Amino acid sequence: MSYSIIGFGNIGKALAKAFARKGIQVSVATTRDPESFAADAAAIGPTIIPKKLADAVKADIIFLAVRFESHPDVAKTLPTWQGKTIVDVTNAYGVPPEELGGQPSSRFIAHAFSSARLVKGFNHLGAATLDQDPAVHGGRRVVFLASDDDAAAAEIGTLAENLGFSPIKLGGLSEGGLLVQARGNSWGQLIFKDLAKFD
Ligand SMILES: NC(=O)c1ccc[n+]([C@@H]2O[C@H](COP(=O)([O-])OP(=O)(O)OC[C@H]3O[C@@H](n4cnc5c(N)ncnc54)[C@H](OP(=O)(O)O)[C@@H]3O)[C@@H](O)[C@H]2O)c1
Repeated sequence: MSYSIIGFGNIGKALAKAFARKGIQVSVATTRDPESFAADAAAIGPTIIPKKLADAVKADIIFLAVRFESHPDVAKTLPTWQGKTIVDVTNAYGVPPEELGGQPSSRFIAHAFSSARLVKGFNHLGAATLDQDPAVHGGRRVVFLASDDDAAAAEIGTLAENLGFSPIKLGGLSEGGLLVQARGNSWGQLIFKDLAKFD
């Protein structure tokens, strides 16, 4: 299984740190030449591999960590996303709901990434919190996952566990998913709730 993170800003770097902590290889990409952020990637760890966007999208599991408005540009890089899982980390805060046809923002993104399996996740925490070691107070930091594809949610749940988090599945995008989505200028009830699970 191969992994990539598209977007290497606050959230992309926080996710990269989680991969580095566990020694799991992940490629990272932006619109820029990989040499321009190679030093930042190396500073996080040797398993963080800077790549061109066209190469990074070859991964099986792709974290979408760009601003919501940039997702169509990423979606254009492949004619089909069949066989891939997109983890939608974006928050469409401030995007008028009517621009999304009233749909959950992740379903709008799913249309752009045609044929991909999509899981909304890792988006409910601020970057400064997601950046930290998820082993907290003897428990594991919670990440929420929502998807209309149960198998994809299970796959990302396993990855979240391997990264040291405690995943909680909320169900479909139009059900539990709404708890972790921004809608217009409001936030779902679970956004920014920094929770830990104890075994
Ligand atoms: N910041 C938070 O606390 C937070 C928390 C939860 C969720 N989120 C969500 O996470 C996403 C990223 O937020 P952020 O704060 O990390 O934003 P950011 O710091 O502005 O980073 C965005 C990254 O995306 C890259 N990018 C822009 N357009 C791209 C494209 N077409 N293809 C590939 N890469 C592209 C940018 O690099 P170049 O411009 O150099 O290409 C940059 O590395 C947003 O959707 C945000 O709503 C943020």
